[in-house]
Amino acid sequence: MALRLGDQVPDFTQDSTEGTINFYDWAGDNWVVLFSHPADYTPVCTTELGQVAKLQNQFADRNVKTIGLSVDSVEDHNGWMGDIEETQGHAVNFPMLADSDRRVADLYDMIHPNANDTQTVRSVFVIDPNKKLRLTLTYPASAGRNFAEILRVIDSLQLTDKFSVSTPANWNDGDDVIISPKLTDPEILAEKFPKGYTELKPYLRVTPQPNK
Ligand code: BEZ
Repeated sequence: MALRLGDQVPDFTQDSTEGTINFYDWAGDNWVVLFSHPADYTPVCTTELGQVAKLQNQFADRNVKTIGLSVDSVEDHNGWMGDIEETQGHAVNFPMLADSDRRVADLYDMIHPNANDTQTVRSVFVIDPNKKLRLTLTYPASAGRNFAEILRVIDSLQLTDKFSVSTPANWNDGDDVIISPKLTDPEILAEKFPKGYTELKPYLRVTPQPNK
C-alpha cells in the first residue's frame, strides 16, 4: 500500500554515490528530502540535481539532508555527476541512491507502471526526525520540480510543529500565519500570541509569525 502522511517510512540499505547507506542511520536526527528522478543522463533531471546542489546550504539551515534516487548504477551516477557540475555550475554534494534492483523504488512506490514501467516518477518524500512522512509530491517525467516550494513547505512544517498555527496559501517565511481555530480561550490566546491577531471570521484569525 502506498505510504500516507503520518506513516513511519520504511528503512532500507542501498548502494549510493557515497557508499552503502542505511537510511535511518544516515538520516539520524535530521529532516530528510528523499526524491527520485526517472533516469541519469536526461535533461530535466540534470537541472533538478543541479538545483538541489545549489540549495544545499538552505536545506542545511533547516536541518534537512537530501538524497536522490534512480534505478541506475553507481557508475552511471558518477559519470553523470560530471555533466551536472559542468552544465549547472554546481557539483552534486549529496548522495544519490543507485537503486538498480528497485528495492527502494518498490518500498516507496516510486514506479507508476501506467506512466512508465521501468523508471521512477519524480517523487518527493519529506520525512521528519521521527521518520514520519510529512509531505509527498509526485511529478511526471516531463515537469521539473520547484525546490524552492519544497523549502517553503519545510518552513511551514517546522513552524507549525512548534506553534498552534497553520500557514495560508502562498505563505512564505515571515508572512502572517493563521491561529488554530481550536484555540478559543482569551488568556491562552494572549499568552501564545502577544503581538495580537486580527479576526476576519471566528475560524480565520491571522497573527504575525510568532518566532519573527
Ligand atoms: C528528463 O529528465 O529530461 C526526462 C527523463 C525521463 C523522461 C522525460 C524527460
